[in-house]
Formats: sequence, C-alpha cells, structure tokens
Amino acid sequence: MKKWTVATFQAAKGRQKLGCCTAYDACFAHLADAAGVPCILVGDSMGMTMLGYGTTLPVKMEETLSATAAVARAVKDALVVADLPFGSYQCGDDLAMANAVACLKAGADAVKLEGGARVCGLIRRMTEAGIPVLAHVGMTPQSVNAYGGFKTQGKTREAAEQVMCDAQAVQDAGAFAVTLECVPDDLAAAVTAALRIPTVGIGAGPVCDAQWLVMHDLLGLNDGHVPSFVKKYAALAETAKAAFAQYVAEVADGTFPPPRTK
Ligand code: KIV
Repeated sequence: MKKWTVATFQAAKGRQKLGCCTAYDACFAHLADAAGVPCILVGDSMGMTMLGYGTTLPVKMEETLSATAAVARAVKDALVVADLPFGSYQCGDDLAMANAVACLKAGADAVKLEGGARVCGLIRRMTEAGIPVLAHVGMTPQSVNAYGGFKTQGKTREAAEQVMCDAQAVQDAGAFAVTLECVPDDLAAAVTAALRIPTVGIGAGPVCDAQWLVMHDLLGLNDGHVPSFVKKYAALAETAKAAFAQYVAEVADGTFPPPRTK
C-alpha cells in the first residue's frame, strides 16, 4: 500500500469509491489503516462516541490534538484528517489558523471544518498556508442548537440550492473535498456531479465519491441508538460485554487465574 495523499484522494473521484471512517486512538486507527481504510477522520464525534456527551459541542482542542497525535502515530497509509472542534475556528481567523497548524504539527495531513460560504475566507487562508481543508456542508452537527436537533438538511428547493451553493463555494475557496452530511440522496448526487472535488457522504446516499461511517457505528461498538443509514459490519459491543462478563465470572468462581506450575 502507498500513503494516501490529498492528491491521490482527489484522483480517485470517478475511478474508485472510498470507504472512510473515524478513529480516535492508536489501537483502532492501526486496525483501520491495516485493513486499507484510505482516510481516517479524527472526528469531533469523539465527544459522543468516546467522551459520553450528547453532542459534539464540548470537545476541546486539547482532546482533538491528543487523539490526532495518537491516530497519526499508528497510521502508515491512510490520510489523517483532524476535525476542528466547536469554538476552535469560530472565535477569530488567527486562532483558527493557530489551531489548524497545531493539528498538522500533531500529525494530521489535513483539517476538516463545518460550514459553507461563511467559512470560505478561512478555507482560502488555510489552503494558501499549505493546510489542506476538507469542508463539511449539509447537516453540520456543531450547529445542532441552531437546528433544534440533528435534522436532515436540504429538503426544500431553497434549502437544496443553499447546500449546492455552499458546496460550490468551499470548492472555489480551495477545499480538497467536501463532506455532505444528512442531505437527500438526489441532492448529494447533483452536488457530486457538479463538483470537481470529491464528495464524502454520510447519510447522503450511494452516489457520493466516498463515504464516512463513525467507527463505533460501523463496528457495532455502540450500545445505543444508531442513525438509520448506518450499516453495522460487526457486533463488537456484544463480543466485549460477553468477554467482560466471562472474566468477572471466572475470577468469581476461581477459574482465572489458574494456579501457576512453577
Ligand atoms: O465527527 C465526525 O465523525 C464527522 C463525520 C460525521 C463526518 O464529522
């Protein structure tokens, strides 16, 4: 395998559909990388999957940097994208630049940030500074309070036009790819056809150039609710619970540890 770069990721558009996922630690990043996942996102979804919050909003820059460094240490070939957490790029462009630089110093190959036309100045500045940016339009979870919940976006004609305009704006600003989250399949297909950069869909249908799945959903590590578009490729929550329960039972009944022979 060869190291994925922003250039090879872009060159796959129209040639190879890419199954990408999140990871937040060295152990799972190593497994995903070894299995051939081309792009690993150190997502701010860690707030919900790893840290027990109800939204992504509480995730701190230090948490993103620590997870990004762990993932980058474990990955050989995948493109590593650090997701800028809420508050790290909304409070002034100089702070946003410093935080994006810190992600690359921690080992990321690129950063991701949410928003369309309103973040284009920042995308342009980062791109010009040599920081590849993966944009994110449609349903942007950091705006959950503005939406009043995690809701599909782009359902009316005006809203669909807004998503298309945002996607085109981030491409024009220099984003190397764009995430389309929770938008209707036909809108995702139209955006994918209109853009020269790859679209990475999540809850956006089959036509996108690449897909994201949150690692905990993909592996069935999540005991609770999963979105309807998710496919579980394993049932690791059951496997882990059974292993914990067997361990507890074997310690209780004296089966583990066995007596040592010398
Ligand atoms: O943080 C995350 O996991 C994401 C994906 C949903 C794309 O932003």
